This record gives sequence, C-alpha cells and structure tokens, in this order.
Amino acid sequence: MTLKIFSSRVFFEYLKRVLVPTYQPLRQRNASVSVAGWRSARSYHNIGRPKYRGPGSAATIRVVDLRSDAFSRPGPAMRRAMLKAMFDEDLMREEETVDELQKTTADLFQMEAALFVPSGSMANLIAVMVHCRERGDMMIVGDQSHLHIFGQGGSAQLAGVHATTATTLPDGSFDLDQLDSKIRHGYPDPHYPRTRLICVENTHNIKGGRVLPLTFLQEVRALADRSGLSVHMDGARVMNAAVAQRVPPSTILQHTHTVSVCLSKGLGAPVGAVLAGPRDFISQAARCRKALGGMIWKTSVLAAAGKLALLEMVDRLEEDHRNAKTFAQALLDCDPPLFAVDTVETNILRFHLKEPSLSPAEFCDRMGQVWEGEEAALGHGIRVLMFPFFGNSVRAVWHLGISPEDTQLAVQKMQFVASQFLN
Ligand SMILES: Cc1ncc(COP(=O)(O)O)c(C=O)c1O
Repeated sequence: MTLKIFSSRVFFEYLKRVLVPTYQPLRQRNASVSVAGWRSARSYHNIGRPKYRGPGSAATIRVVDLRSDAFSRPGPAMRRAMLKAMFDEDLMREEETVDELQKTTADLFQMEAALFVPSGSMANLIAVMVHCRERGDMMIVGDQSHLHIFGQGGSAQLAGVHATTATTLPDGSFDLDQLDSKIRHGYPDPHYPRTRLICVENTHNIKGGRVLPLTFLQEVRALADRSGLSVHMDGARVMNAAVAQRVPPSTILQHTHTVSVCLSKGLGAPVGAVLAGPRDFISQAARCRKALGGMIWKTSVLAAAGKLALLEMVDRLEEDHRNAKTFAQALLDCDPPLFAVDTVETNILRFHLKEPSLSPAEFCDRMGQVWEGEEAALGHGIRVLMFPFFGNSVRAVWHLGISPEDTQLAVQKMQFVASQFLN
C-alpha cells in the first residue's frame, strides 16, 4: 500500500515536471518558440508546414499562431483540474465528473440534459441523426455552414439524411422566405422527403465569426414551429456569441431545440464538445454516440477541463474579441491601403487583399516567414501564422494563447509586409 502511494506520488511529480511545462501557453513561454519545435497541424487547405527561410536565429523569432482557436491550450488552472481528475483513484468519480460537466452545460443552456462527445463534428452529426430519425429525412443547412462544407457529407454518408441548402447571408443568417421555400410539405406523398430539421451556425465560422441576430433566431424558431420542424444550432462558438451580445447563452438558445458547443476552441479545453437538448433527445444521442465510437473511456480528465472551460474561461473571450478588433483596425489603417476587412464581432477576423498581385496564400506565406531585413527593422523576426480562407480571403483567429502583446507583434509584421508594397 505504502509502495503504491509512493509510486503514484513519484509519477505525479514526473507529470508535473515533465509533461506540464510542455502545455504552457505561448505567451508564458515568452512567445519565443524555436522553429524546430513548430508542429504542423490540421489545415482546411492543406497548405502544410511553412518553411523557415530567414536569416535570423531561432532564439529571436516570435511566433503568433492565428490559424485557429482549436490550437488553444489549457492554462494552469485547467491543467491542475485535469491532473487532479487523472489521479482520482475513486472510479465512481469518473462518472461523476462527466455528469457534472453535462449538468453544468444543461443548466447554463437552460436545457433538460446534455452529453459529452469527443468533437464538435460528432456532436452535430449525432444531432442530425437523432432529429432526422428515418432514412431519407431532410434537413436545411446553410450553404456555407461547417456542417455542409467541412463535414465530408457525413450526414449523407452515415445518417442517410438528405440536405438542402439555404443561402448564407453575410451575417450568417438566411433569408426567411427562401428558408420557408425550402421546406418540403408533400410528405407522405412518395415524391418528397420529410423535412425535419433546420440547422443554424452561431457564431458563423466562414462568415468570419458573425453572431446571429436574436430576432433572426426568433423568426427561424417561429417558422420551424409552424411547420413542425426542429432547430439545431452548431454552437461551436456559441459562448463567443453570448459574450458579444452580452446575454446569457440561454437567451440565444431559447430559440433552438438543441445545440452543440465546442470546449476545445476558444475555451481552451484540450478535447471535447457537449450536445444539449431535451431529455429524450439526449437518450437517443447517447445511443448514436456509442454507435459512432464516441463513447470513450477515462473521460473525467477531459470533463474536468470542460467544466472549468464553461465556468471560468468564458469571461476572457472578450479579450480575444478586443484583440481581433485591434488587428482589424490596424489592417484598415494600413498604408498602403491593402486590405478590405469584414465586420468583426468576435474572435474570428476575415479580410481580403485589394492588391491583385498579392493572393491570400502569398500574403500568408509572407506573414509566416522571417525575411531579410526584418530583424534589423523590427528588432526580431516575427512569424504570424494564418490561413488563406474561403472566398479568396484570409482568416485569423484569436484565443487564450494570444495576448495583446502578441497582437501588436502581428500588427508590426503586417505593417512590415505591407511596406514592401509602397511605391
Ligand atoms: C462552426 C464549427 N462547427 C463545428 C466544428 C467542428 O468541431 P471539431 O473540430 O471539434 O470537430 C468547427 C471546427 O472548427 C466549427 O468551426
């Protein structure tokens, strides 16, 4: 017994000393990251790993990673909560921690029940499977929604669901007459599918983090109620929407039947999402989760992080929104005037290049590498990582790893890149 306690203490110390420092956020590591330590990561565009070509030494290179809030990392309090959950020897606590996360989410959203799932994509797919319960049922999704564009057609592949699209407007909403016209009322005439579901996305990723107006949600819900449909919100970043609108999330979600929220984006948890809705919906969702391989073991470590994410990481989202706006303003103020900037409401910024010879990919490449003369001009090399994005734009995303100082570094680098276009 003594030996067991001793060895678990030694292991705990090992984790604290060896594993924990690798999880320190960028800014706590002085925002100076060796290029050799840069890890390649998922990209919607497969642009791969930027190559370091500059003359500077790795020690003086600052990296500001604006590719995605999915690259956020747990802060010190979250890491402590995870370690505590990891070493809880009471196996009953395993379930309790997950239950606590689910209950916390349900309470926050004023919904009956909630279910932890490994990813936002799986949460949305499960929602589609449960709402559209018969093969060939139909859902209406935004033509630029994550579900439609980036979900590999999972709803068709795995759920046998027929999707029709509504045109996504610049603020992420739909034209309500068009939405209405998409509903098939002919069922059970054998020519028609049965329309069951309307999906909305809030905040809207492709539209640059736009927040759906509450009046729009109210009208969508009224339309759905008139036609006997359900409304599901892909709320991967619904907490950003709530912060931007200065309302509790339940004010937004009163207009939807179900919602998925990502814990692993701006909220900083390493993995996970939660699906919330009515109790019978969540019971069915739990069955689908198992069928999809999403009922994973030892989730208390993730649930502990998720609970802290929802309870303690929401208020700071405001800082991400502020930083995104600061950078947007710098783009607008830039001389030469190279940039057209979309409305920024939350942590995602989308902008276009007005200079025809500078494509989004070329701009990202210039931002992502250290160039000759840069260290002399700026005092250090700066690599700012961003993605070329949908609609010939560039996307930059703020999260808890990006401080106001990092944002200023990104501004400096942008001005340096832009100065090369001065006549
Ligand atoms: C709006 C939106 N929904 C869903 C997802 C999918 O989440 P996950 O990466 O956890 O599968 C993303 C991911 O970026 C997203 O932006």
